[in-house]
Order: sequence, then structure tokens, then C-alpha cells
Amino acid sequence: MADTLTPVLTAGWGDERSWTLEAYRGRGGYAALDTALGMAPADIVTMVKDSGLRGRGGAGFPTGMKWGFLPPEDPEDPKPRYLVVNADESEPGTCKDTPLMMASPHTLLEGVIISSYAIKARTAFIYVRGEILHCVRRVQAAVAEAYAAGHLGTDIHGSGYDLDVVVHTGAGAYICGEETALLEGLEGRRGQPRLRPPFPAVAGLYASPTVINNVESIASVPSILEHGADWFASMGTEKSKGFGIFSLSGHVKRPGQYEAPLGVTLRTLIDLAGGIREGHELKFWTPGGSSTPILTAEHLDVPLDFEGVGEAGSMLGTRALQIFDETTCVVRAVLRWTEFYKHESCGKCTPCREGTWWLVQTLANLEKGIGSESDLDQLDDVCDNILGRSFCALGDGATSPITSSIKYFKEEYLAHLSGGGCPFDPIRSTVFA
Ligand code: NAI
Ligand code: SF4
Repeated sequence: MADTLTPVLTAGWGDERSWTLEAYRGRGGYAALDTALGMAPADIVTMVKDSGLRGRGGAGFPTGMKWGFLPPEDPEDPKPRYLVVNADESEPGTCKDTPLMMASPHTLLEGVIISSYAIKARTAFIYVRGEILHCVRRVQAAVAEAYAAGHLGTDIHGSGYDLDVVVHTGAGAYICGEETALLEGLEGRRGQPRLRPPFPAVAGLYASPTVINNVESIASVPSILEHGADWFASMGTEKSKGFGIFSLSGHVKRPGQYEAPLGVTLRTLIDLAGGIREGHELKFWTPGGSSTPILTAEHLDVPLDFEGVGEAGSMLGTRALQIFDETTCVVRAVLRWTEFYKHESCGKCTPCREGTWWLVQTLANLEKGIGSESDLDQLDDVCDNILGRSFCALGDGATSPITSSIKYFKEEYLAHLSGGGCPFDPIRSTVFA
């Protein structure tokens, strides 16, 4: 059960069998759907625009604006419209969509139905990460419950609106969280990104207009229908409205999901999580998983919104707050993340495919104390040649932990070289002496 400052998405997570339709209805679920079905679709799009909701998958693109990019329907060339929910949560440290789907899959489903109605889609897909089979089963069970209760299928709630939902299971590639690679996967092809533009809103699934949104974005929609755009916009900061789920992992006493208004600080969230583990202090942290530059204890009071974290030199990303205390070797942590990117690189473009390989070689040597100071310049140079030159955001993300850790912890890299290995290694430790 998550602690929370804004109990909206996490409301009811502690209830007995919170994931069932009965429990969801018991806390007012599917009432927002009735409200939505009584409105014109365009008015729902306007409402979501007015709420200021920005994409919760990491990029923060305004949700209502994305919906508004769908081309007008053309009677001469009718094309279906699709809603695709990106539930392929894989960013290291990110654990918000999975608990949401586990604890309250009907919040997502109600959002799917309202959003599909708003964009005039008759088929929606939920693309769930394949490894989390328990979650796939939970969402499938919720979809079956929703069909049986008349929330899905034909003539939903007697409105004349029809919608089918397909739960699709991914095969475990991080790149399939990239929206166009996800579409490739849905169409049965190898998951590799497509060139954008055209953006999926114009030519997405089966070349039809497609809205792709993250689980948390779609799950926020029923609350906007229920309480209004102004209510949503009254929370958060001027440009980052509303609330979100922050996942804290690592060296805090109570890791978990904490729902709070955007703009909350890490200091507040660490307090909610019981503090840093006894006798230790914060060394570094990621605001949004390993694809966002690391920050340090200097940044405890940075507002965790898209602008505040940006000003601090990082990105809000997925709000995956990975917390590391002074016992962690930053070089080893960065090496581990970089191995992840090397493994997950889809191989389509050279800077990422070759660059992540070189980064791992250099970091692995440095971690063992092999190399020279010029290797740090080489790391920076390779990162510079990946950043902005890769085909998709995976390559850019791979460089974030490296360049930021050199910025804040260059001395620690050099200590590996001067000490002939990791100063955090218990055998040669200068840290635990
Ligand atoms: P992006 O900024 O390129 O696009 C964001 C969204 O806005 C997309 O849906 C895109 O189609 C839409 N969009 C942007 N410009 C548009 C236009 N002119 N017309 C129509 N639609 C437009 O970001 P991207 O590359 O899709 O995602 C990167 C983010 O993904 C990163 O910020 C990172 O935090 C996040 N991420 C999340 C992961 C997770 O597990 N949740 C994993 C890895 C990355
Ligand atoms: Fe594939 Fe990496 Fe290039 Fe993205 S940046 S297309 S993951 S090789």
C-alpha cells in the first residue's frame, strides 16, 4: 500500500481485493464513464487539454494536444483510429504502472474507454511487458470482467458506443517501450523504431491515426472527468499540473510508490519513505531512471516537475527515484546501467549499437582500475557522438549517467585508477576502512 499526498491513482490500493470490479465500483468506479458518454467527444479532448495533463511515460508531452493532432475524419478515405496504451514499463528503477495495473486495473480500463470514446477509436490495445505475467493476467481478468458487466463491447452503458480492448503481451525488449518500436511489435514485426515524423497520431498502427499514451496518463483521465479540469490543474506547478506516482527504490527505509503533486521535492519523498537507511547519507540519485542524468544531495530541494528538474540539469522522466547512499560506487552503478543499454540497443543505428559497446569496454576497465585519465575524455567523446546522433531516445539515455557522473564524481573515477581498482571493493577498500 502506497503512502500518498494526493490519493487519487493510488486510492483504494490497500483495500481488500482492490483489483476487482466490485471493489472498484465500491469506490465510485465507472461513474466517470457515464459522465463521459453523456458528453461530445470533442469536449472531453478540450477538458483534458484544459487540465494540463502531460504524458506520464517520461516525455511530458501534453496529452490533450496529442489527441488533438489526430487528422479530421475523411469520409472519402475512412480509416479506423486506435488507442494504444504503453504498458511496457522497463526504464530501470521505474515501478509505477505495474503496481497501478496490479492494484487497480479498472482505473486504467475506465481511462481507456473514456479516452477511446474521446478520440473516436473502436479498438484499443494495451501493450503489457511480457515478463510481468502476473500483471498481464490481472489486466486480462479485468478486461473480461468489464466485458461481462457491459463496460466494454457493444452499446456501452446503452450509449450506442462500441469498443473492443485487446491485451497484447510484449516479448521483453526495452526498446518496445519506444512508441514506434511498440507499434512494430504490435504489427508482428521486430521491435525497432520507425522514423518520426510521421508521428503515430497521423500514421500509427496499420498506418492509421493512433494515440499512444502511458498507463498512468490514461489512468488519470477518469479523475479529470469526475472532478473537472480546474481541480486537476489546481495541483502541481504552473507548467506541470496534477499529480503522479513517484517510485522510490534503493537506500531508503521504505522503498515503494508515493503519489504526490508534481513539484514535490525529493526531501519530502524521502521523509515519506522513512528516510535514508540508518547511519547513512544520500550520495546520488536519478530523477527518472537511468536515462536521466544523476543528481546529488545538493539537489534535494529541486521541484520534481518537468521544468524544475530541467533547470537542475536533468529530466523528470518516469519519476523513478533510485536512491544511493555513500556506500555505492558510482562507477560500478554507471557500468551496470551502461551494460543494460548495450544489451537493449536494438542495433538499428551505428552510434548506439557501436557506442554502447565501447562505453561498456571503457567503463569496465576503469572500474577495475585499468586505463588512464584520458579514458574519461574518451567516454565524454563517445557520449557526445551518441547524443543527438542516435535514431531514438535509447542512445541519448545511455549517455546520461556517464556524463553526469563524470561531472559530479570525477574524483571517484580517478581514485579507481590511482588505487588500482574500486575503492569500494571490500579487499582494497578505502571507504569501509
Ligand atoms: P518525444 O518527446 O519524442 O514524444 C513524446 C510524445 O509526443 C510521443 O507520443 C510523440 O508521438 C508525441 N509527439 C511529439 N511531437 C509530436 C508532434 N509534432 N506531433 C504529434 N505527436 C507528437 O519522446 P519519446 O521519444 O516518445 O519518449 C522519450 C521518453 O520516454 C523519455 O523522456 C523517457 O523518460 C521515457 N522513457 C520511458 C520509459 C518507461 O519505462 N516508461 C522507458 C524509456 C524511456
Ligand atoms: Fe536502436 Fe539504439 Fe538506434 Fe534506438 S538509438 S534505434 S535503440 S540502435
